[in-house]
Amino acid sequence: MSAPATPSSVVSEAAPRNRIIHGDCVDVMAGLPPNSVDFILTDPPYGVGYRSRDGRTILNDDRLDWTRPAYAQMHRLLKPGSFCVSFYGWNAIADFSAAWREAGFRVVGHIVFRKRFASSTRYLRHYHENAFLLAKGRPARPVWPIPDVIDFEYSGNRLHPTEKPVSALTPFDVLP
Ligand SMILES: C[S@@+](CC[C@H](N)C(=O)[O-])C[C@H]1O[C@@H](n2cnc3c(N)ncnc32)[C@H](O)[C@@H]1O
Repeated sequence: MSAPATPSSVVSEAAPRNRIIHGDCVDVMAGLPPNSVDFILTDPPYGVGYRSRDGRTILNDDRLDWTRPAYAQMHRLLKPGSFCVSFYGWNAIADFSAAWREAGFRVVGHIVFRKRFASSTRYLRHYHENAFLLAKGRPARPVWPIPDVIDFEYSGNRLHPTEKPVSALTPFDVLP
């Protein structure tokens, strides 16, 4: 029979808490232990070659080859019975969807973030962002599920060309 886990061995098998790690997310995730993360919220590049009106661009937004390795790592890290909320680019949905399925995620919900302004205009005026609710395994259903339409306040995009307002993300606090 193996010895009971000591506090130090428990800590060494846990993901770091309350730390910001700056690096390539696929490399960073590869160094973290499996089944150690309670919840993932990710706002990755959309794979659309975005350029803001003032000329700002987004790293890795001109390619989608990172989707499979990134979502495979996210699935590996999550504890069984937990969620990943992932923003995505609607015009790259085929690549995102294939990466989620191949990683082992189940798609269990779709979220619309409603804007009071059109962030761009092509064939339509774009008044919303999207995210999917992905599950690893079969998480327990919340007692009071949150709505799948959430208001998206405009932050001004001063720090980043495609900022997500914190107020649009805090509703996910209630997920297990
Ligand atoms: C859609 S933006 C996220 C915006 C952010 N949620 C906010 O509210 O400001 C995608 C971000 O992913 C970052 N990124 C791209 N490739 C990455 C990688 N391999 N590892 C970590 N971050 C990456 C980009 O630099 C960009 O800031």
